[in-house]
Amino acid sequence: MTDNTARKLEADLPDLEAYWMPFTGNRYFKQHPRMISRAEGMYCYTHDGRKLLDAVAGLWCCNAGHCHPRIVEAIKAQAETLDYAMAFQLGHPRVFELANKLTGIAPEGLDYAFFVNSGSEAVDTALKMALAYHRIRGQGERTRLIGREKGYHGVGFGGISVGGISPNRKMFGAMLPGVDHLPHTHNLEHNAFSRGLPKWGAHLANELENIIALHDASTIAAVIVEPIAGSGGVILPPEGYLKRVREICDKHGILLIFDEVICGFGRAGAAFGATRFGVTPDLMTIAKGLTSGTVPMGGVLASKDVYDTFMTGPEGAIEFFHGYTYSGHPLAAAAGCATLDVYLGEGLFDRARAMEETFADALHSLKGEANVIDVRNFGLIGAVELESIPGKPTARAMSIFRECYDNGVIIRTTGDTLAFSPPLIIDKAQIGVVVDTVRAALRSQ
Ligand SMILES: Cc1ncc(COP(=O)(O)O)c(C=O)c1O
Repeated sequence: MTDNTARKLEADLPDLEAYWMPFTGNRYFKQHPRMISRAEGMYCYTHDGRKLLDAVAGLWCCNAGHCHPRIVEAIKAQAETLDYAMAFQLGHPRVFELANKLTGIAPEGLDYAFFVNSGSEAVDTALKMALAYHRIRGQGERTRLIGREKGYHGVGFGGISVGGISPNRKMFGAMLPGVDHLPHTHNLEHNAFSRGLPKWGAHLANELENIIALHDASTIAAVIVEPIAGSGGVILPPEGYLKRVREICDKHGILLIFDEVICGFGRAGAAFGATRFGVTPDLMTIAKGLTSGTVPMGGVLASKDVYDTFMTGPEGAIEFFHGYTYSGHPLAAAAGCATLDVYLGEGLFDRARAMEETFADALHSLKGEANVIDVRNFGLIGAVELESIPGKPTARAMSIFRECYDNGVIIRTTGDTLAFSPPLIIDKAQIGVVVDTVRAALRSQ
């Protein structure tokens, strides 16, 4: 950045002090602000007019590209027609329309949609559904929840309890009781530089049997995993792993929850990770790509068995004492309907699948660059893992992030892993720009 640009940036900025930013080094940011003021398609524009190629779709969410005109129009039209309708005991047409569209593309058997406002709320909702499901069936002693090491399920107390990322947990006390964790499946000794799903590691699903043996199946309500772990470092499921988890859950009457907040809506090269992997959970959490990041919205897709279990008791009684003021908000529902229309109308899930090999070729061309210890890919999700600087974990990836940003590409880091999850509209030339920029950044260190 030239001195002139820096001065202009400072002159035009609002006072930065009052806003406490999430998951951000606030003091560093306020000294070195990076402001996005406009976005369109594959690009974001900074406050001082720089154009940046977005290789992470905002935060794994703007799958249709930024400010898609059809989605923008739908939000505008909805805001002029119905701003809000009471979410409990009253409804509005858009949210029913969205539930129909969603269950139409969901894996077979996930026939019901419950709406919330974020991935974190979706996770807490799914965990509560699982606990209540067993209780209604007379198995109220099934209260344990099983997550996985390195899992990320948002930041609610439920999500951090089943999640497996230490910094997100350690400050916040005892969290939910009765939670246990499967081992993660990340193993560079066996799987470094795998293309697509790693071959080694399906047997790690059998650890679930050990956890069940320890606690007894009769105490376990649900297992929750991300089909592809995102924020924990882009960890792909070994071939056969998810099927095995499903089998073990079935054997013991345990509900399986897939957290598809990242994997859903084309990211895995199909409508959902479950679709691509051919494994259907009982509950599936969604958010992000549901509205292509335009209006906050999340949801839980539930099987008929789960829904029907709740639909008992006195006629007219509330079946599930849970929901949010903004569950199924009209603006979010309109954005969701338009987003699904765009995905299907423009064939974006197929496009993601068709681009997978090009994306994989480009990423894997980084093998052999300095400090690259692994490259992983699946669908339009990818990762380049770097050797950490001794005693300074995350520093190397952060400096690559900054270098890429200064050179016109937004990437994301998790630990010392560079993560890529571009909008599904990315083309071959843009994939080339992303990877060339990362290569140059790696060489400049
Ligand atoms: C798998 C997964 N679950 C849940 C969440 C939480 O979503 P939100 O940030 O919308 O609460 C995320 C966010 O990245 C996620 O990746």
